[in-house]
Amino acid sequence: MQHLVDTDDLTKEQIVTILKESASFKKRTPAPLLSGKLLFTLFFENSTRTRSSFEVAARRLGADMVHLEPSRSSTKKGETLEDTFSNLCAMEPDGIIIRHSENDTPSHLANMQETPVINAGAGNYAHPTQALLDLFTIYEWFDGEIEGLKVAIVGDIINSRVASSDIRLFSRMGLDISLVAPKPFMPIATKLPQFEKIEDVIDNVDVIISLRAQLERHKKPIFENYEEYARHYCITEELLEDRGILVMHPGPVMRNIDISDEILEDPRCMVLDQVKNGVYVRMAVLKMLLLDSRD
Ligand code: NCD
Repeated sequence: MQHLVDTDDLTKEQIVTILKESASFKKRTPAPLLSGKLLFTLFFENSTRTRSSFEVAARRLGADMVHLEPSRSSTKKGETLEDTFSNLCAMEPDGIIIRHSENDTPSHLANMQETPVINAGAGNYAHPTQALLDLFTIYEWFDGEIEGLKVAIVGDIINSRVASSDIRLFSRMGLDISLVAPKPFMPIATKLPQFEKIEDVIDNVDVIISLRAQLERHKKPIFENYEEYARHYCITEELLEDRGILVMHPGPVMRNIDISDEILEDPRCMVLDQVKNGVYVRMAVLKMLLLDSRD
């Protein structure tokens, strides 16, 4: 049984297969390869893109999906998460897609070995399908020539599971990462090059990944005024000028704080392409876990 708790669960060959299969799903609609399969989603945190993207991916491959609303489920009546999970597994699904505020929850449930567990975002540590769709977006734009590309990750890096997952996956695939953030947003233990100003990296990057300040994870407000923060970290026309830099963001975007209105309309901005690609990447992931890796 294969899980996707972190991209480290995948071999390099499997990562390449996911990239190639995502590209082929994007070119033509596949047969309903997962017809008769059943997936549960169990999201303990809000989601717009990720949950619907998994659902669209599952449906396009012919699988059925049942959403459990944790706020209305028995975990609210005192049932442990493990018991809720085992009860869902008793209905014999082919996988459970989970989002949780704790970093360890998906790995803990995966270790119960009852059904494949797919992590749809956990704490500030891992969001493997977002990292894979980010990588696929870069792979497609640069025609598969990704080794040595220079990526700057900008914003609330320390609290972002997207940053953490992107860093692990991209480093493994040979991309060159720099971190750009004010001190309170910079991870403490990192060997990656760190910069306080975007201007210090702008002439030496191929891709910028902008991140939202994870306000819901801040124990107390870090900046009183995000307009002041935006003056240094917002991706604007004045900053990019005519440089051919790809601008990415996992969403939700805080307009004019993370990325300006003009850049969101600019052809260099990949935000909606990332959302579109997310469906194909999740189709490739579901196929790999539910079909190709079944024992
Ligand atoms: C992110 C998340 O929830 O981890 N969004 C996403 O899944 N596309 C990032 C965020 O909330 O800022």
